[in-house]
Amino acid sequence: MKYLRKSMVPLVVGAVTVLLLGFAIGIEAKAGAGIEKEAWGTVDGKPVDLYTLTNANGLEAKITNYGGIVVSLEVLDRNGKLGDVVLGYDNLKGYVENNPYFGAIVGRYGNRIGAAKFSLDGVEYTLAANNGPNHLHGGIKGFDKVVWKARGVTSDNGVGLELSYLSPDGEEGYPGNLSVTVVYTLTDDNELKIDYFAMTDKKTVVNLTHHSYFNFVGSGDILGHKLWLKASRFTPVDEGLIPTGELRSVIGTPMDFTRPVAIGARIEQDTQQLRYGFGYDHNWVLDKRLGEMALAGSLYEPATGRFMEIYTTEPGIQFYSGNFLDGTITGKRGIIYEFRNGLCLETQHFPDSPNKPDFPSTVLKPGEEYRTTTIYKFSVR
Ligand code: GLA
Repeated sequence: MKYLRKSMVPLVVGAVTVLLLGFAIGIEAKAGAGIEKEAWGTVDGKPVDLYTLTNANGLEAKITNYGGIVVSLEVLDRNGKLGDVVLGYDNLKGYVENNPYFGAIVGRYGNRIGAAKFSLDGVEYTLAANNGPNHLHGGIKGFDKVVWKARGVTSDNGVGLELSYLSPDGEEGYPGNLSVTVVYTLTDDNELKIDYFAMTDKKTVVNLTHHSYFNFVGSGDILGHKLWLKASRFTPVDEGLIPTGELRSVIGTPMDFTRPVAIGARIEQDTQQLRYGFGYDHNWVLDKRLGEMALAGSLYEPATGRFMEIYTTEPGIQFYSGNFLDGTITGKRGIIYEFRNGLCLETQHFPDSPNKPDFPSTVLKPGEEYRTTTIYKFSVR
């Protein structure tokens, strides 16, 4: 106090009060809504953190800036009990060593590009063939395996994490420096909202998605979950899961989810499409206008009452019934992930769009902004 002039004392007292008040709010935020950060390890020499987002109702999402992975997502059941509804690992090592895209942001192109090639303005671009002869989920080191820059953000209605990544020209074979931002928001309406933005300096293709494996019970198969998709058509595929280009009606086939139906009800039917996918692993064509933000479908689990609606600006959704899970992965809390123990609902543009001129375009030009939004909204029934 020796160096303080008397006139400064009220200022100091004021500052201390603000500080204490801030501290009190901080404590409160910890008990209620807010965001916390903890160190989680390093990848490629870069620090990786784990962020815990909590909304006003106690829902909690843990998200890491490695791959933009949603590590856990705790939502309420019918009895008001929180439970984790996504598959994953307890630690970073699990994700780095062997991750079938659990919870990740997928890009630069989510899903498949046939023959790992596409052309833009007469120039052919060759990508990694990391799925038989085809390209899958952005290549060998896609956006699910890079360290993103992260910062906490707040909005009127929730708490968010903004992730950004600069994908250099030529990365995984794609043209153009692509600057990508993904914002996850856990809203007080119990939504996990994902906003995707991207800009390029050279014509390229972009198709970003999110790859959480949902299981509303937390373990066991997902065959009793009831799925509804607002889609009267899907894009049939060849044996490499590349769309043939046709938009085929689902009516009268096991692909028909226009009314809620248990995933297991028809999954074993002997049809060519189900054989190719080893179950469901297809893109549905959503019944809505291009670019319109609309309800795309829902998922319901009768025993827990957990219910999720999906809203998106995207024209399609890949429903993957976890057919490649085979019991070789031991995940969180020591749970072994067996065949069809998780399911993905990946909002997207259709697979192989860069080679299908009749599909909605995935081309991004310099000066344009790529912008899509998907919401997973949780409640109980
Ligand atoms: C996507 C694909 C599947 C599979 C999984 C990851 O959903 O469509 O075929 O590759 O990712 O295992």
